[in-house]
Amino acid sequence: MVDLDRTPSPEFSPWAMGEDFAPLPEYKVATDTVLDFGGLLPAPLKLHEDLSSGCGGQLWPAGMVLAKHLLRYHQKDLQEARILELGAGGGLVGLSVALGSKLQNPLYITDQEEMFALMGHNIELNNLQGRVEARLLNWGEPLSQEIVDFKPDVILAADCVYFEPAFPLLLATLTELLTLCPSTTIYFCFKKRRRADMQFLKKAQKTFHVVEVEDEDRPIFSRQGLFLYTFTKKQ
Ligand SMILES: C[S@@+](CC[C@H](N)C(=O)[O-])C[C@H]1O[C@@H](n2cnc3c(N)ncnc32)[C@H](O)[C@@H]1O
Repeated sequence: MVDLDRTPSPEFSPWAMGEDFAPLPEYKVATDTVLDFGGLLPAPLKLHEDLSSGCGGQLWPAGMVLAKHLLRYHQKDLQEARILELGAGGGLVGLSVALGSKLQNPLYITDQEEMFALMGHNIELNNLQGRVEARLLNWGEPLSQEIVDFKPDVILAADCVYFEPAFPLLLATLTELLTLCPSTTIYFCFKKRRRADMQFLKKAQKTFHVVEVEDEDRPIFSRQGLFLYTFTKKQ
């Protein structure tokens, strides 16, 4: 099981804090990780982690926080949702939700080309074929017709704030998704590593109605620089 408090290498760990640069994940060999979020999952989630395709190939701290939050507080109300995850990496958050909730719709986990094979591998590892679909979705590019038709009303985004040039692209995609379905709730969790990360939040506050989410673990994860919000359409 993975311990949220582990801090193996402060300078190059994704769990690290730094003001001036976004640290790259520490290189680790490909491995299979098993998680049950303290018993919140009926069957453990199996995740293959492999950094050879990119930084999303390992689990990240905001993904752990968001997955646990959704399992603890939203298992029931997500059952009828149309869920799409952005920057899913290996699929930590989306796959957790699919294992924990009796979803009536397929759940889409999305990322860039480099992550596609890993997302597919992890879907199979958890026997979630047909219930979870992996798709390419590059932030800032127009949404595919399939996603437009799906009209997601719950968006998951964990640890997607770490590379400043991508901020406007991510904001553009979030805006497009909220325009597509104005009742959408975006669950947005990130770890502050640099001052610029808070600029992302300031920009989001100009565009969306941003609310910091209650969670019994908040005192713990906020000490680690982790923030959990919902973004909804401004009235
Ligand atoms: C830090 S990882 C987080 C992975 C996962 N959400 C988690 O919490 O474990 C960020 C993810 O965002 C994806 N990403 C970065 N830039 C992107 C872009 N322009 N379009 C789509 N995905 C992007 C990366 O490929 C990576 O998988």
